[in-house]
Amino acid sequence: MSDFTSYFWHYYVAGLTLISILACLGLLWYASRVKVTPTKDNTTGHVWDEDIIEKDNPLPKWWVWLFVITVVFALIYGLLYPMFGKFPGLLNWSSVGQYKAERAANEARVAPKFEAFAQMSVQQLAADPVAMQIGESLFMNNCAVCHAADARGSLTFPNLTDKDWIWGGDPEAIKVSITEGIINVMPPQNVLLSEQQIHVLTAYVWAKSNPVQN
Ligand code: HEC
Repeated sequence: MSDFTSYFWHYYVAGLTLISILACLGLLWYASRVKVTPTKDNTTGHVWDEDIIEKDNPLPKWWVWLFVITVVFALIYGLLYPMFGKFPGLLNWSSVGQYKAERAANEARVAPKFEAFAQMSVQQLAADPVAMQIGESLFMNNCAVCHAADARGSLTFPNLTDKDWIWGGDPEAIKVSITEGIINVMPPQNVLLSEQQIHVLTAYVWAKSNPVQN
């Protein structure tokens, strides 16, 4: 469904779409009725390039029916899905709606995990392989662009795997760095990430410089 600023464009687009679909059918109907009087050798009498002749054979039936089927398909599709201007379609489907539904389903799936993680300490999370996997994927998506995939950073982006800290390397200090960001150089991460996600990320970063001894 499109967001038009006025109803004129809705009718314009919906009308043009419908008319062009029906015009296809009309063309087929018209073509089936036009009578060309064939010559003796079953040609229309048209000759191109000296020897290319046009025969007057009817369209193959399978082709005609395929044509009709595509038109019917287009009409049914247009009824079900948003194709005609503002008309949302009988299924009420939209890409935004599908995205929201998939996101909600995913969040419902991971919510219990994050709730359990929220009860665990950073040290406990660091020893939990599932938490570290989730931490890694959060890190790859949100932090690796600056701190590098292995968290070792690069020029002007600090290495998070050593014991050398600018703002402190204990879990609390790491959490503050992530949540609030660092003025001018690192955006606060609580804009995109939930508190529970930051908790898991803190453990992931902490574990980088405090590897679990098995
Ligand atoms: C836009 C680039 C950028 C992104 C994205 C970013 N950071 Fe940073 N981060 C920095 C910079 C630059 C610093 C160094 C700040 C300074 O020099 O004071 C830093 C510092 C830190 C520190 C403190 C390091 C220390 O030595 O005290 C931590 C912890 C940290 N980042 C974790 C993260 C995590 C976790 C993420 C992902 C959620 C993240 N950062 C995303 C640029 C970024």
